[in-house]
Amino acid sequence: MKFFIDSVDIDAIKEFNKSGMVDGVTTNPSIIAKSGRDFKEVIEEICSIVSGPVSAEVTATESSGMIEEGLFLNRIARNVAIKVPLTWEGLEACKNLSDQDIMVNVTLCFSAQQALLAGKAGATFISPFIGRLDDIGEEGMDLIRDIKTIYNNYPEIKTEILAASIRNIEHVKKAAIFGADIATLPPQVVRDLALHPLTDKGLEAFLNDWKSSGQKII
Ligand code: G3P
Repeated sequence: MKFFIDSVDIDAIKEFNKSGMVDGVTTNPSIIAKSGRDFKEVIEEICSIVSGPVSAEVTATESSGMIEEGLFLNRIARNVAIKVPLTWEGLEACKNLSDQDIMVNVTLCFSAQQALLAGKAGATFISPFIGRLDDIGEEGMDLIRDIKTIYNNYPEIKTEILAASIRNIEHVKKAAIFGADIATLPPQVVRDLALHPLTDKGLEAFLNDWKSSGQKII
């Protein structure tokens, strides 16, 4: 499973890169606004660190504007994937940009039917939002399972399932079990993935026993 970092936190991206955890990065207008960083500058900086896909989202609402913004963003670096919303305008922009060999991430997907449309429009990635479905009392992870089943039924669909709106490590485990190709993770969720109280307890006991042996490796 590939991990994308759902953040523009440069220190976190560099930190996770050292252990091979960064296969790409995703952003959205809210993440950019919260960071206070200049959109184009931060995307350029991330692309200088990460060679995998870096998603940058358009904000136009009509397909012509989305295509124009997408082409502009893609000129920042070849690995910029253009994020478009799952609307008919977005699907039209998706088809146009995909036909120009530009990676497209279709975002704000909340149903398997929507994911089917994105696949037909040639999306490189489909982003089902798990946490936001959980927020309204649905089982977000069912959507990953359904999209996986549908895409497996139609091998001509090459779209990768990018589990988004991931809030905790349980989401990561289930997305992996259900076969999501990618999970995009906030930095804290990446950190939490390695943690287990029994690991800490076990390590403490090993180190104490080692100390009492009086030995040194080097
Ligand atoms: O990048 C889109 C997605 O991951 C947003 O997550 O937590 O705002 O629903 P969230």
